[in-house]
Amino acid sequence: MVNNSAIRTNIIGGSEVGAISVDMDQRSIHETNSLFWNTNGNDVLGGTALPFYGAYVSEDSCQLFGDVSGKKMLEIGCGSGQSLQYVGERQASELWGIDLSESQLEKTRQHLEACGLSATLICSPMEEECGLPTNYFDCVYSVYAIGWTTDLEGTFRRIASYLVEGGVFIFSWSHPIHKCVTADNDSLVFKKSYFDESWYSVTLGESTLSLSDRKLSTYANALARAGFVIEQMIEESDEALMMQSSDREFADKARMLPVSFVIKARKL
Ligand SMILES: C[S@@+](CC[C@H](N)C(=O)[O-])C[C@H]1O[C@@H](n2cnc3c(N)ncnc32)[C@H](O)[C@@H]1O
Repeated sequence: MVNNSAIRTNIIGGSEVGAISVDMDQRSIHETNSLFWNTNGNDVLGGTALPFYGAYVSEDSCQLFGDVSGKKMLEIGCGSGQSLQYVGERQASELWGIDLSESQLEKTRQHLEACGLSATLICSPMEEECGLPTNYFDCVYSVYAIGWTTDLEGTFRRIASYLVEGGVFIFSWSHPIHKCVTADNDSLVFKKSYFDESWYSVTLGESTLSLSDRKLSTYANALARAGFVIEQMIEESDEALMMQSSDREFADKARMLPVSFVIKARKL
């Protein structure tokens, strides 16, 4: 098990593991990834949860959410439930979460119960119709989960439909440049093309997962086509968080290039 969040994010960055590019359809990707998250996904990758958007980016300094009191909140890929706890403790009026994995949702349920909070939880791929109300939420957010979708634009369109007009969508994911560049002695070298968005398999110990690294323009264009305007984008790592990191190599890399990105968008 890898316990340090910086190291986990480095692993999902794919720098230290062999990746095999293969043709995959949506069903096999969901089967692979739900098996991964239903078994030891969290033990292998851990979870990234608010206030953190990634290893070295925190809501404490970004302040993207503002005051969430009285707001209806939906988390996509709610995982451990810790981000729902974060917004629940800030007096959000309703907490909702969806996740592909039933065992992840069970963790959310138990975690929120232990915190004296409750949420409406739905087990579904984010790409599919799952009974979520439309024109309902003030804010939809996702911390290190959006990139798992097999249909980015379709997912963004669904998220837009859940939001009220003027509603906010905030999400974070691994930065695609980080996924392309690896440390080699004292140098950073490109190990794959930034433009390659094909799905690939990663084996971590006994587990396999399927991923694709999309360009930043793919996210920006899909948001625009789904009816969002981007209000803010964050790529920089927080110096104080890097200073505290026990993973010097990863912190050094994060000083040279973005390892995570966060986008705040608004439904037009
Ligand atoms: C890295 S975790 C998210 C971490 C989460 N923020 C937390 O606090 O634990 C990614 C989550 O996305 C979920 N996931 C993966 N593919 C998904 C999909 N296609 N639709 C919905 N959820 C998915 C996984 O089951 C997992 O719980």
